[in-house]
Amino acid sequence: MDRKIEYELILAESEALLEEGLEMVSNLSNAAALLQQHLNFHWTGFYLVSGNELVLGPFQGPVACTKIAKGKGVCGSAWELKKTLVVADVHNFPGHIACSPLSRSEIVVPFYNNSGEVLGVLDIDSHLLDDFGDSDQEYLEKFCEILSRKLVK
Ligand code: SME
Repeated sequence: MDRKIEYELILAESEALLEEGLEMVSNLSNAAALLQQHLNFHWTGFYLVSGNELVLGPFQGPVACTKIAKGKGVCGSAWELKKTLVVADVHNFPGHIACSPLSRSEIVVPFYNNSGEVLGVLDIDSHLLDDFGDSDQEYLEKFCEILSRKLVK
């Protein structure tokens, strides 16, 4: 699989698939399915900001933890820092929350509302070590920009 080709398809298809004004849960469900169909990682899904914690949103993959406090784990840290986190080896990330023993590397990308507040994070876990690089970050940030634009209109 040429991952870049898959990412280009994801970006093009997400523009058509995600609908402005649709309920967030519907757009996020299709977004998780679109990513999974093309990339087939161990776990792909969303956590959504609710008060002072993240709650589990639509996802594809094994069952996962339902609540993550701000600043905790990779997801809570990406939310607090408002930046993408790429973790090459989850065992070396202090406070990593192990939802599945098969996850070895992880990327978490926040997405935002119009005021620049974090709405939630996209979390993708791989069963391979060091599976995410600059290109994954670049494409997934572009994907989350499209997602933000579609969700907040
Ligand atoms: N590993 C994440 C928790 C979510 S699961 O991977 C689906 C974290 O440390 O935030």
